[in-house]
Amino acid sequence: MHKIMVLNAKGGCGKTTIATTLACYFVSNGYSTALMDFDPQQSSNRWLKVRSPEQPRIKAIDGARHQAGVTRSWQLHGGDETEIVIIDTPAGVTGGKLVDLYHKADSILIPVMPSIIDLQAMELFLGELGRLLKQSQHRKHVGVIANRVRMKGRSYHAIEELMEEVGLPLVSVLRDTQNYSIAMESGLGICELKPGISAKDKKHWDPILEWLFQTIPSKQRKLDLAPTSPGRWPSAVA
Ligand SMILES: Nc1ncnc2c1ncn2[C@@H]1O[C@H](COP(=O)(O)OP(=O)(O)O)[C@@H](O)[C@H]1O
Ligand SMILES: [Mg+2]
Repeated sequence: MHKIMVLNAKGGCGKTTIATTLACYFVSNGYSTALMDFDPQQSSNRWLKVRSPEQPRIKAIDGARHQAGVTRSWQLHGGDETEIVIIDTPAGVTGGKLVDLYHKADSILIPVMPSIIDLQAMELFLGELGRLLKQSQHRKHVGVIANRVRMKGRSYHAIEELMEEVGLPLVSVLRDTQNYSIAMESGLGICELKPGISAKDKKHWDPILEWLFQTIPSKQRKLDLAPTSPGRWPSAVA
């Protein structure tokens, strides 16, 4: 079982959006997938409740209940057959909470928005995460996604510079589009929207999936991922 966590202490940067989108990608690629929601607001679990039973089934694991110690092992692991667990996390995760969550993940994706406020919060968060990475015996797969990018202006370049400084990969850049809220409201992921409206966005997910598949045994992959060279992203964002 591979556990992919979407993590950033800053609220509103796209953790739930990215967690639900990833769950759709994995389940539609034939992986038995569970979504574990550690946020007391339960946005991921609410999204799952809106999801039509006709869509490929993603199992729900209530991480908040798990943390309270009332969850049985099948809830924690999503059943023996679960291959991928996507973990959504709340805002404000620091200190002991961050340490607890960090140890539950195999891969960690950090969304960040190109704004000065988000970048300042990100620097603090990365400082804390960096210390954990150094102390950790098992190397984690950690990458960053720039989210809601309208233009590659000064704030976007500040993200690139910060990533270079801390030595983390900028895995992809997602544009700011209402497609994500449309998908969220319908219990769907970007990969399940009509190709006419989502083709541009799907391209932005190819490098994310490629990066994740570096540590996940591939299985029945229906995606035809175009090879991307490091540091070059699809050009939908100017
Ligand atoms: N790439 C995007 N383009 C447009 N809206 C987005 C994008 N990513 C997230 N959003 C919107 O931003 C808001 C916060 O996103 P959310 O995933 O709930 O963040 P978090 O879980 O980190 O608090 C939501 O309304 C969501 O629909
Ligand atoms: Mg959330």
